[in-house]
Amino acid sequence: MKKTTKAALALAMTLMTVVLTACGGSADTPNDSADAETVSQNAAPAPASGATLTFGTNAEFPPFEYVTSSGVIDQYDGIDMAIAKKIAEKNGMTAAVENMEFDSLLVALENGQIDAAIAGMTVTDERKEEADFSTPYYTATQVMIVKEDSDIAAAADIADKKICVIQGYTGEICVKDMGYPYEAFKKGTDAIMELVNGKCDVVVIDSATAQKYVGDNEGLKIVEDASAFESEEYAIAVKKGNTELLEKINKSIEELLDDGTVADLGAMYTEAIAVE
Ligand code: ARG
Repeated sequence: MKKTTKAALALAMTLMTVVLTACGGSADTPNDSADAETVSQNAAPAPASGATLTFGTNAEFPPFEYVTSSGVIDQYDGIDMAIAKKIAEKNGMTAAVENMEFDSLLVALENGQIDAAIAGMTVTDERKEEADFSTPYYTATQVMIVKEDSDIAAAADIADKKICVIQGYTGEICVKDMGYPYEAFKKGTDAIMELVNGKCDVVVIDSATAQKYVGDNEGLKIVEDASAFESEEYAIAVKKGNTELLEKINKSIEELLDDGTVADLGAMYTEAIAVE
């Protein structure tokens, strides 16, 4: 049975559409198997202070995570990094970050290299096979970044165009599902360079990150197609079965959603990097 929480209700109110997994996948809800296994509903006391909560990320995804001279956690900054820091603090711990390739995050969870992954990571059925996901904290969608003079106006228009995606991102899954050929890059900035240099026609990537890239580069625009790209939810992943940590993370996220912190951080980091 799914546990109804205040945060889930708050989130539901903000979601205008039924949330689907990536590109028109099956209707989906965050992993709730952990709830079913919970024996006690009592919040565990905060662990001894000084303990470290290690978050894995891929700091190539502004405004969620990026490297800067002085970030909220070491050199790492962004919405996710600020959320990670607050989650650790709420549980009497110190947040640490391990930066790695996006594709490596779930493996790093599995082998215990990190405690949790926070990386603008979309909850998908496939990923739920590999990890348990927290209460979602952000809703996004895939969009298309094109040159300002492009004739691309909808997803169907990219069928015969040169498409760039980022390896392992849901954008790659979407384009693959559409059956279009594409080239995958390691980093969002690499794909954007191809576009700027006229070597590709369209980059498919998450909405907030697309906005950041379009703000940073002259001559680009965003094309949306809600009928082709369904909404996605970002959540924090923990190792499968790590119910204890998942419960703590969920409690913290729900508080951060309820008191408006997540919304404030979203607005702050979107503005902060837009005027840079
Ligand atoms: N939301 C997309 C996904 O889950 C892209 C996430 C990329 N995140 C990152 N930190 N590089 O696949």
